[in-house]
Amino acid sequence: MDALTLLKERRSSVDLGAPGPVGTVLENILRAGLRVPDFQYLRPYRFIIAAGEGLDRLGALFANAARMSGKPDSVINRAKSMPHRAPMVIVVVAKARHSDIVNLYEQQLSAGCAVMAMQMAAVAQGYGGIWRSGWLMYDRTLQESLGLAANDRIVGFLYLGTPQSGPKEPPPQDKLEDFVEWL
Ligand SMILES: Cc1cc2nc3c(=O)[nH]c(=O)nc-3n(C[C@H](O)[C@H](O)[C@H](O)COP(=O)(O)O)c2cc1C
Repeated sequence: MDALTLLKERRSSVDLGAPGPVGTVLENILRAGLRVPDFQYLRPYRFIIAAGEGLDRLGALFANAARMSGKPDSVINRAKSMPHRAPMVIVVVAKARHSDIVNLYEQQLSAGCAVMAMQMAAVAQGYGGIWRSGWLMYDRTLQESLGLAANDRIVGFLYLGTPQSGPKEPPPQDKLEDFVEWL
């Protein structure tokens, strides 16, 4: 797939199965994540990868976070199984630090770009992915159990694998003029 087609037509995949990305494919995905715009090269991102038994460990952390925040059993059980919706989940963390030039928000935007870049690198290599969030992204228990510091934020859970079906709905047929204006 050429770059422009990827940029214009990229879709997310909800239904993901084995195999997940490994070896050079995975390395390409991670390298794409590290090649996003990054003012002053502060490298304000970290990628925490769960695959295989790592998915069980991530599910246990999700379930513990749900338990600690008093969620009902149904939510706790669902949290435990959530990472198993794909063969790989990359927790993308914005690790912003003080800078007189680059504020925290800009560093978090850079980490968000890494989610998109990695999804596109997966699609470019015949895999699929979906950027997910939800309440767990903001949960302090989960953040601490993943080793995040006070200023760190999870910007997304990137689920990756092999698409088992095409996208359910076509993308919206946007009119450029609804989104673009010229001064
Ligand atoms: C920050 C962010 C968080 C998202 N969180 C979720 C989510 O938790 N669950 C979900 O189904 N889609 C979520 N999405 C949307 C999907 O990643 C995806 O963009 C959407 O399903 C539309 O599909 P498309 O990318 O093929 O257009 C999120 C997107 C962004 C940018």
